[in-house]
Amino acid sequence: MSDFLNISDLTLAYGRTVAVEKMNLAIAKGELVALLGPSGCGKTTTMRAIAGLLTPVAGSITIDGRDVTRLAPAKREVGLMFQSYALFPHLTLYDNVAFGLRLRRDPDLDAKVRAGLETVGLAKFATRMPADLSGGQQQRVALARSLVMQPKVLLLDEPLSNLDARLRLEMRVELQRVQQETGVTMVFVTHDQSEAMGLADRIVLMRGGAIEQIATPEEIYSAPRTTFAADFLGFETILPIEGENRSMAWRPSAVVLGEGPHEGTVRGVAFAGERREYVVESAIGMVKVDMPASDTVYRIGQPVRFDLPKDRAVIVENS
Ligand SMILES: Nc1ncnc2c1ncn2[C@@H]1O[C@H](COP(=O)(O)OP(=O)(O)O)[C@@H](O)[C@H]1O
Ligand SMILES: [Mg+2]
Repeated sequence: MSDFLNISDLTLAYGRTVAVEKMNLAIAKGELVALLGPSGCGKTTTMRAIAGLLTPVAGSITIDGRDVTRLAPAKREVGLMFQSYALFPHLTLYDNVAFGLRLRRDPDLDAKVRAGLETVGLAKFATRMPADLSGGQQQRVALARSLVMQPKVLLLDEPLSNLDARLRLEMRVELQRVQQETGVTMVFVTHDQSEAMGLADRIVLMRGGAIEQIATPEEIYSAPRTTFAADFLGFETILPIEGENRSMAWRPSAVVLGEGPHEGTVRGVAFAGERREYVVESAIGMVKVDMPASDTVYRIGQPVRFDLPKDRAVIVENS
């Protein structure tokens, strides 16, 4: 069976509130999949169900051919890592990483702990306490602690959202490297599209407890299926097509400023390094545009013409 983690018609609820409805998702062994979507769309709920912390109302979950739907969390061989590192403050790094292995009286404990610390580049800090580490290092310890249990699936719920921008990028690279090295199947939750793009083999875009689109980063970037997906992935200008249930969508970089059939007034300008970002008010609404920073500079309040080139638009279903 090529589907290593298989979610079938999964419905999840808190009391009478349905949080995820009839979800279907098949993930291959060694794949890194990102669950992406706005707050409240059901990402954490899905992770909790995979981990066994929430019993489904309906549907099933199989891992490596075994139905785990009703299995206790500890028996699933699933690792779970949240944004708070939750290291034990009174234990050394070594003992933090060893914790789960001790519980299961693993005969290879020492070798596994050392290999785990090695994998995340912290072997020489084995005797340190968590308080003596940076946030990024603590995060890596939490990763090692999950990895040494050799989970079949590693679940990461917004693991980078507490880190500053630079550390986040470092950890992103680290996660990719660890994934390559260990081949562990990873499901990664984020509400940040660039994080999902940068990390995942496939992106599962969720909306209101259901899957909106499953695609590779390249596919979803260039061909979002719906207006919701387009909007979430940075197509800032979306115009309905008359008489159809579809719309045209443009990224800010696809809009041309300075010439064209539309007229508007510059309401915002932001210098963004290589590009300059504009907000233009017009009869069709607020249009976001970005232009090379070296191009003509328009000022706030200035009238300006612009073009929405048809050949730069994507066609999406209204949703
Ligand atoms: N413990 C809970 N009790 C009741 N409703 C909850 C609980 N946790 C989450 N929800 C609801 O379930 C939905 C999905 O939440 P969640 O999975 O946490 O979203 P996400 O992780 O995508 O932000 C939301 O509407 C949220 O309000
Ligand atoms: Mg969440």
